Amino acid sequence: MKPNLTVAIVCFLIGLNACQNPNTTHSETRSSSITSVVDVEQKVETLLKQMTLEEKIGQMNQYSGFWDLTGPAPSNGDAAKKYEHLRKGYVGSMLNLRGVENVRKIQKIAVEETRLGIPLIIGFDVIHGYETLSPIPLAESASWDLEAIKKSAEVAAEEAAAAGINWTFAPMVDISRDARWGRVMEGAGEDPYLGSKIAFARVQGFQGSDLSKHTTLAACAKHFAAYGFAESGREYNTADVGTSTLNNIIFPPFQATIDAGVRTFMNSFSELNGIPATGNSYLQRDILKDKWEFDGFVVSDWGSIEEMISHGYAKDNKHAAQIAANAGSDMDMESYLYVNELADLVREGKVKQAYIDDAAKRILRVKFELGLFEDPYKYCDAQREKEVIGQQAFHDACLDMAKKSIVLLKNENQLLPLKKQGQKIALIGALATDKTSPLGNWRIAAKDNTAVSVLEGMQAYTGNQLTYAKGADVSLGNTEFTVEVNINTTDKSEFPQAIAVAKTADVVVMVLGEIGYQSGEGRSRTELGLPGVQQELLEAIYKVNKNIVLVLNNGRPLVLNWHQEHLPAIVEAWQLGTQSGNAIAQVLYGDYNPSGKLPMSFPRAVGQIPIYYNYKNTGRPTLPAPGKVFWSHYQDVENSPLYPFGYGLSYTTFEYSSLQAQAVSDKEVTVSVTLKNSGKLTGKEVVQLYIRDHYASVTRPVRELKGFELVSLEPNESKEISFTLTEKELGFYNNQGDFVLEPGDFSIFVGGDSNAKLETKITL
Ligand code: NOJ
Repeated sequence: MKPNLTVAIVCFLIGLNACQNPNTTHSETRSSSITSVVDVEQKVETLLKQMTLEEKIGQMNQYSGFWDLTGPAPSNGDAAKKYEHLRKGYVGSMLNLRGVENVRKIQKIAVEETRLGIPLIIGFDVIHGYETLSPIPLAESASWDLEAIKKSAEVAAEEAAAAGINWTFAPMVDISRDARWGRVMEGAGEDPYLGSKIAFARVQGFQGSDLSKHTTLAACAKHFAAYGFAESGREYNTADVGTSTLNNIIFPPFQATIDAGVRTFMNSFSELNGIPATGNSYLQRDILKDKWEFDGFVVSDWGSIEEMISHGYAKDNKHAAQIAANAGSDMDMESYLYVNELADLVREGKVKQAYIDDAAKRILRVKFELGLFEDPYKYCDAQREKEVIGQQAFHDACLDMAKKSIVLLKNENQLLPLKKQGQKIALIGALATDKTSPLGNWRIAAKDNTAVSVLEGMQAYTGNQLTYAKGADVSLGNTEFTVEVNINTTDKSEFPQAIAVAKTADVVVMVLGEIGYQSGEGRSRTELGLPGVQQELLEAIYKVNKNIVLVLNNGRPLVLNWHQEHLPAIVEAWQLGTQSGNAIAQVLYGDYNPSGKLPMSFPRAVGQIPIYYNYKNTGRPTLPAPGKVFWSHYQDVENSPLYPFGYGLSYTTFEYSSLQAQAVSDKEVTVSVTLKNSGKLTGKEVVQLYIRDHYASVTRPVRELKGFELVSLEPNESKEISFTLTEKELGFYNNQGDFVLEPGDFSIFVGGDSNAKLETKITL
């Protein structure tokens, strides 16, 4: 074939200006028919053949935008260099770039000024919304409502995509058993089964059924792997995890994202068993790409390639780039090492050309799937941006999700719901008027002061006399990059006024907890009480009025012993996003009956951490007789958490009965149970099924969640709920990494939390 003809065919096949001379401008829209005629793989191959080594490596290079950093900027990260690289085609992706005008400007450089005109993929941390925020992911997980969670991700995707973004660094699917770790707010809690279901729902929500739509985003499962097992809950710390925990606890949610078709993965800042995740070929090549057959791409975390030098794993920059590329990290986020070092490493034979081709292919594949080659500006419609962002429908969805995320922890003497008429209500606490903290830590595109505060939410109920008093601040500050958030205020000057207001009230609603930046990345804590003087304020108010409803705003489990012992009502309201105050008010006033259940255990003491419901029995599990010493326990605090995983109350009550299980084969068990709404209000209950495999070649936890269903019942209504347990639920990974179902005795428990009392047994 003559060269010119080859060139023409290549241009037709891949639908871009790969073959144009550098001066040719690129048309902004492309024929969509090309995608349907030629499949993505063929296009990727065709394009790859046109690329120089440097251009392939360019695809593997990701830069942050020139503002809004979400990590420490490397000293050599000057904008001029970034522009120069962009123009040469040495940049495959940008992050922290948002807004149609900004994205279009940068995309235009990639498409019109580079030799091949390959569009950029634009990544952003769309974690629980873009500008209109849903509850933090931990809170959403408390809903156990997979449809609602999926919808929340859909909304986030649609709004972010309207701002020029096409890739989100979410969901974070790291399991964590440690509330000291600030990032528990971004995950689904401690359980791999619930975590897997939620991971699947979130990926489906972000990506939809068609990635090329302008309303969907490519998702990113992060942080692969074991970031949530940072020792002592200290951010970025080492993880040292055995095979059984890795396979049975940490991996399953990541596998679930693959099942859902996730297109990208992010590795982790942390090391796992001595090897940094970024340089870990067991994780990235053996498990992810080979065993799980993942054909999307892996992005490093911010600067994590370079950080392998600090880990003590790489000698210098060049060595770090070599290790990461060989280990299967396809894209370098802000280390600048691939763009600076990889070409030489390939020429010197230290990194295989095949690895570069593979990485570039993976990245191009996702770009084709997003439809970026058909229209690189498909996410850049200024009119759509104006119409879509902040839509009422998004606010409605966020409100719905926020109500579903609230967990009622205690409600004595039916203090809740509040009466709507004739009451004097005192509302106390700085968080009650805070319109920023409910947005949480991940709010890069949201505007400060845009959440509905609790005060505003409660003001919508006009039948009572509502009086607000701050009482005290939570800390000295509330901004992203300052340390003041962790410095406690000692100012008690406003206590007297709050006490005076409380004295004459029928009910005191106290909104206490953490400000938005007291959880999240880099926000580990060693104490899990109420920060600052809030506890003192609470006890001072309690002295004058015991009728307290404690509303908690926080991004992690807290230690709440005093509160459980003394207060009549406690509502876990997390950080609920833009509609926070409305959701809280509707729950307090009974216009919404809470149904949330905790996705993490709440400890009695920080010293119990890591604490989780699916622990191992040990050889000495139970107290032999009063006063005995040699069994697995603490001297000062009992073993159990204060509130167990799966726990949460409703304004109505539920009764469980008639639990039955039957082995229909040696690999399948059917289970049924009757649930009755025994209270006076319509309500929802999360029916939870746990198993215990009594003996196995690798010891199994005392309980494992293996099924749940969200059921809505009218007062006095009963319903039979059925579950089917298959090999998938009954088996486990052994220490060779094989999934096995071993015959033996199993207990099955069903109930409203992980302490479920109803039990039946089967033998397989
Ligand atoms: C660091 C975080 O660990 C990661 O989750 C995030 O996506 C990147 N920064 C980009 O902001």
